[in-house]
Amino acid sequence: MSRTKIIAGNWKMNLSRMQAQILTSEIQQMAKDELSSNNELILIPPFVHLQTVSHLIEKGQGVALGAQNCAAFESGAYTGEVSATMLRDYNCSFVLIGHSERRDYFHENAEVLVAKLAQALAQGLRPIVCFGEPLEVREAATYLNFVEKQLDDTLKGCTSLEGFVLAYEPVWAIGTGKTASAEQAQEVHAHIRNYLKRKFGEKVASETPILYGGSCKPDNAASIFEGQDIDGGLIGGAALKSRDFIDIAKQL
Ligand code: PGA
Repeated sequence: MSRTKIIAGNWKMNLSRMQAQILTSEIQQMAKDELSSNNELILIPPFVHLQTVSHLIEKGQGVALGAQNCAAFESGAYTGEVSATMLRDYNCSFVLIGHSERRDYFHENAEVLVAKLAQALAQGLRPIVCFGEPLEVREAATYLNFVEKQLDDTLKGCTSLEGFVLAYEPVWAIGTGKTASAEQAQEVHAHIRNYLKRKFGEKVASETPILYGGSCKPDNAASIFEGQDIDGGLIGGAALKSRDFIDIAKQL
């Protein structure tokens, strides 16, 4: 069984246009020189940098473009929103759905996420569906039930998961410098793979990449990626430095 290995860089709300340009060019060059073409790199800049990054990504180099969010509606009077159709138009192949910062700071609940997912799928965007427990749930040791329910609520209505990527991001590890141990990450990934098997069947379970995210850095990536159900990483802070991002990708 072989799943595509993926390293995705979520730039969040960082970088000027010039910085985005430099970072993309450096990543592109290093990827060409240092990485095998079997692994997929995804750059996920803020909306306003999509065009800049898209122009710099040469086709066929294994670097794909993703967006951090999309609207829950197709088009119309939704001031400040960006539709999945527009993202497609800017050459996005992927879109993050349900990042914990969207869930927490922008109150995106399951109903909103289901609508966003439907928009993404209707435009042929591959969703990267994020899930993960907050600290109190980890401490109460109810995290396996919590993440399964979170995912189940978001995937409500999906009959196939073709093209999907999942990302387990424990909230207590995001941007905190506190990463999950290899065992903690593998435990949740194995649980979710099992859930996929129960809910969608063996094929989906074995083919869907599940990424880990949360303070993943060059010095801890190797041990995290050892887990047999961990298929790569969703990287925040370390994705803003080309050297770190590529060094993480090398450890897949
Ligand atoms: P971090 O962010 O690597 O800075 O912890 C990960 C994410 O939020 O995707």
